[in-house]
Amino acid sequence: MTHASTPLRPSGVATPALNALLARERERYTQRNPRSQVQATRAGAHLMFGVPLHWMNDWGTPFALQVAGAQGARLTDLDGHRLADFCLGDTGAMFGHSPRVVTEALQRQAALGLTTMLPNEDGSVVSELLAQRFGLPQWQFAMTATDANRFVLRWIRAATRRSVLLVFNGCYHGTVSDVFVDLVDGKPVQRDSLLGQVHDLTATTRVVEFNDLQALEAALAPGDVACVLAEPVMTNIGMVLPQEGFWQKAQALIQKHGAMLVMDETHTISSGPGGYARAHGLSPDAVVVGKPLGGGMPCAAYGFTAELAARAVQAKRLAPPGHSGVGTTLTANLLAMAAMRATLSQLMTEETFAPMHALAGTLAEGLRRVIAQHRMPWCVTQVGARVEFQFCPAAPRNGTEAGNAMDAELEHAIHLYLLNRKVLITPFHNMMLICPDTTAHDVQRLLQGLEAFLLECRDGMQ
Ligand SMILES: Cc1ncc(COP(=O)(O)O)c(C=O)c1O
Repeated sequence: MTHASTPLRPSGVATPALNALLARERERYTQRNPRSQVQATRAGAHLMFGVPLHWMNDWGTPFALQVAGAQGARLTDLDGHRLADFCLGDTGAMFGHSPRVVTEALQRQAALGLTTMLPNEDGSVVSELLAQRFGLPQWQFAMTATDANRFVLRWIRAATRRSVLLVFNGCYHGTVSDVFVDLVDGKPVQRDSLLGQVHDLTATTRVVEFNDLQALEAALAPGDVACVLAEPVMTNIGMVLPQEGFWQKAQALIQKHGAMLVMDETHTISSGPGGYARAHGLSPDAVVVGKPLGGGMPCAAYGFTAELAARAVQAKRLAPPGHSGVGTTLTANLLAMAAMRATLSQLMTEETFAPMHALAGTLAEGLRRVIAQHRMPWCVTQVGARVEFQFCPAAPRNGTEAGNAMDAELEHAIHLYLLNRKVLITPFHNMMLICPDTTAHDVQRLLQGLEAFLLECRDGMQ
């Protein structure tokens, strides 16, 4: 029972108990990771922010955990702790760290050239496999999902001769500037955290709530929308599932108003080898895949229907000679193509996904049990191999509801508590991913960690 004087946060925990736990776990982290601390201090000399990418400070740890190695579902830190990794590089390592088939392919290719700005046989094979998996006939590549999204927007704006992009509130599609427009009190507002943003994004980006067909139709009605760029399930503001029939009706509206539907499957590829769209019988005009596509190597791809591809090719033919604004020098390099060939042919298969989905189901059920036992107002959502718990009693229906359910301090406390007990989950929200090497024991360890956290939190509230 809580003291009458200690109100609970909407997430169901009391602030004093949370703060005390967080302070203790930060201290414990520092004690447990002396080598990481030395290395992090050294890195501070010449790395801005002390890390190679400033996001690496966003884990809520007193200093960045330093990696000694990663293999399968394990990440070993510099102080020798072997962590059960449910973050998996935020999906880059969804098929496990350093999968053998990929490292062997990389070794073979490394002796035969790394990058040439010319194709080899892998290009044909990879595009055939992508066409098979995703049901779209025409493909191009990028180094990151961010770039793939950026390039798709360019192609579709050129092909449709329309300028407006339509996205869902709370979306994330990488660091593509165009998408950073939020709905605030029903009005589009450019995100003010963006650095160096000099263009008014609201001029060409429209934003509506997910699952809101009326708002979608109103935003499409002017007839200037080039495409709707969306994850089939929102996964970056916590998870938001599409309501029954939403996508069928949304796509009919999108078609009616002459726009294209682009599905960004970078995270929802956790649904199976053809992503969420294939698993649920959806047929977007374009698909983007990144992160795990090269088994952890930087590469991404985007596919078009024959009709959209023909329009994109025509736009290129009609454009004056010169830079298209699509592509980067190392895109589709030989190493990346070899990695994608190995991943697509040997890892991105039904056989690989089936046990991942089953274990994710066990995790989701276990989380629901722990949450129910402790009467927390939280819910759990599973999308294939991906599981998320959110601090709201019912699954959110849109980005605003999902955003309102977030509690950054509570998230930090849970993540740090688990990390101190050798379980790693994704920062920014409560996402857990199962890879082929994750064991039932790893799942139990995670569940026991969360249970212990909730017990201590409750004790602190008494
Ligand atoms: C749905 C989605 N699309 C694109 C991206 C961008 O991927 P990357 O950072 O690898 O470019 C992300 C990253 O989290 C994502 O979640």
